[in-house]
Amino acid sequence: MGQYSVGSGPTVFVTGGAGFIGSNFVHVLLHTMPDARVVVFDALTYAGNLENLAEFNAMSDHPADPRFTFVRGDICDATAVRAAMRGCDWVVNFAAETHVDRSIVDPGAFVRTDVEGTYTLLEAAREFAISRFVQISTDEVYGNAEAPDGTSRPSIETDALKPLSPYAASKAGADRLAFSYWATYQLPVVVTRCSNNYGPYQYPEKQLPLFITNALADRAIPIYGDGRNTRDWIHVEDHCSALLQILTAPAAEVVGEVFNIGAAEERSILENAQTILRILGKPESLLTFVPDRLGHVRRHAVDSTKLQQQLGWRPQHAYDTGLAETIAWYRDHAVWLEHVLARRDNFLDGALQLGAKQQ
Ligand SMILES: NC(=O)c1ccc[n+]([C@@H]2O[C@H](COP(=O)([O-])OP(=O)(O)OC[C@H]3O[C@@H](n4cnc5c(N)ncnc54)[C@H](O)[C@@H]3O)[C@@H](O)[C@H]2O)c1
Repeated sequence: MGQYSVGSGPTVFVTGGAGFIGSNFVHVLLHTMPDARVVVFDALTYAGNLENLAEFNAMSDHPADPRFTFVRGDICDATAVRAAMRGCDWVVNFAAETHVDRSIVDPGAFVRTDVEGTYTLLEAAREFAISRFVQISTDEVYGNAEAPDGTSRPSIETDALKPLSPYAASKAGADRLAFSYWATYQLPVVVTRCSNNYGPYQYPEKQLPLFITNALADRAIPIYGDGRNTRDWIHVEDHCSALLQILTAPAAEVVGEVFNIGAAEERSILENAQTILRILGKPESLLTFVPDRLGHVRRHAVDSTKLQQQLGWRPQHAYDTGLAETIAWYRDHAVWLEHVLARRDNFLDGALQLGAKQQ
């Protein structure tokens, strides 16, 4: 893989590696590239969870993985970032404030982490001559998936960015800032825009784990508006396999490029809720319609033809089986879920109580 031979793998600086996608990425990376080393740099906000990385940390039943280092730090803290990034080869920036609903209540936190934090990382990456910097952007930057004439269709990389939430706008700022470091300083940046992820270790404020958590406890499932807003779903491991291919591809094929990542599996909120209830054998009376989210995007969907054609990447998980496996994972990881719920923050409480109140 890439320019690294056995015994001399890359050291990968993974920001936000204690969150949902970042922790899955660490699993995929260390299982796929035994010679790699990882430095996870994470502030451990409400969304960060070291239990997601228990396999690599020292635990009562196993020692720490010598390839793994965890540093608690804020990506806006230039001194801490520089101290931790020194000696690393690649940077993958997952760290962000990520929940659209929270961004509507507190946009400033998103501008700070998602834009300023990315700036701090880019500056450090320039200083240390990082050989690949992957900026994890999102399909949210496109706003509604549509052609320039307004016809609804999956977004392509050259579409205009029309973010509708403060989260999406902050990510769009970081996305373009990262690109500018390629255009201006030739920092080897790649920008990825992935669709909605599902899978293990997702904080239960987001749609699928919230629905699963509430359904498991026989609480109501809150459905925004008419439930017809759709998203394009991808298993988190497929997102991570795409990232590995981008990291190990020859620079000429990927650097300075934007890649959509998606599995072309569109489902509405209502379809997701109904599928989860059916798989868990719970009644549809748990469905509860609530007022729509402000600025709610009707349709997100990405066309990932460019990634498929240029790098030969293909998603391996079909949505229906992937969702069933994910539901089983949350059911079978009751202790993980219990610990997450025990740390409840007000926002998560709200989402969960909403379900409880509306039974
Ligand atoms: N979840 C999705 O469906 C999805 C889809 C496309 C793109 N993305 C992007 O992928 C990335 C990861 O998303 P996720 O769903 O895993 O998020 P998450 O909320 O589960 O995790 C975010 C992580 O970043 C850390 N973090 C937050 N602020 C930080 C700071 N200032 N300094 C250091 N660490 C900080 C948190 O502690 C947490 O571990 C984000 O950049 C997000 O925009 C997510």
